[in-house]
Amino acid sequence: MKQLEVEIVQNEWVAPNFYKMRIESAYLAANIRPGQFLEVKGSSCLDPFLRRPLSCHRAVKNCVDMLYEVVGKGMEALSLKKKGEYLNVVGPLGHGFSIISSPKTALIAAGGIGVAPLVALAEALRKKKNKVCVIIGARTKSHVLCEKEFKSLRCEVNIVTEDGSRGHKGLATDALMSALSTGSRNISTIYACGPTGMLKTVTQLAKAREIPCQISLEERMACGVGVCLGCPIRVRKTLTEFEYKMVCKDGPIFRAEDIAW
Ligand SMILES: Cc1cc2nc3c(=O)[nH]c(=O)nc-3n(C[C@H](O)[C@H](O)[C@H](O)COP(=O)(O)OP(=O)(O)OC[C@H]3O[C@@H](n4cnc5c(N)ncnc54)[C@H](O)[C@@H]3O)c2cc1C
Ligand code: FES
Repeated sequence: MKQLEVEIVQNEWVAPNFYKMRIESAYLAANIRPGQFLEVKGSSCLDPFLRRPLSCHRAVKNCVDMLYEVVGKGMEALSLKKKGEYLNVVGPLGHGFSIISSPKTALIAAGGIGVAPLVALAEALRKKKNKVCVIIGARTKSHVLCEKEFKSLRCEVNIVTEDGSRGHKGLATDALMSALSTGSRNISTIYACGPTGMLKTVTQLAKAREIPCQISLEERMACGVGVCLGCPIRVRKTLTEFEYKMVCKDGPIFRAEDIAW
């Protein structure tokens, strides 16, 4: 892990409220793994003071891409950055996904901006010759992200939107439920990233069918390295005992069955 001043190669609007930024760093591109994240200082002033966590969307040659949604001051400041400016980042942070290799299909479920770390994951799974099926859940057709990227990796892609403007009408978990009801025996692992409610449902669905499941958790983070104790999550130690882990240091990827929601 290093603190770096990196050049912004690109920072583009990709959909309403969503941007993609490419930063140049041979070190990060070589070392960051799918599911790991960077702590990014979007603003050069004191407001907002804290860095913001952003996943590695994809590592391309000497660069790392981040895909982000503007929700507050930190992401807004980031969206105003221009090509050629510099950005202070710390990373790679956290633990990434375990990349399996299986003759069965890996099923990826993305809810909203939760899709951000899943392209790098799909790429790693495809490198290991896995068949990959992706469910992209979005609010409307304009918010469907990364379809082209997944298709160019030769993943099967299913789209669901909350208003039915693209694909089936519903949530990512509805599509996951129907995928599992048609062929759950052929699924090696479920990988998911999205809102907490979605991840809880994914966990229940995977557990009911005894399918291994890895989820990427989101917590508000300050330090990003396990020092401030600001991102605890309750996990099962044994059947009856629990303990707290830090999402930043021990995650953000966890085995779904370990989380005591
Ligand atoms: C490990 C990790 C990886 C992430 N990767 C990405 C990514 O690739 N792309 C992306 O767009 N976002 C990602 N996020 C979420 C992102 O960090 C937050 O959206 C960002 O910190 C918001 O900062 P802000 O200053 O714009 O908003 P703030 O002003 O800090 O907050 C605006 C609103 O968003 C809510 N909020 C802020 N942070 C979070 C959070 N972590 N979880 C849930 N609600 C939150 C606040 O409660 C508030 O309502 C990730 C979070 C984590 C923990
Ligand atoms: S953000 Fe400080 S301990 Fe996780």
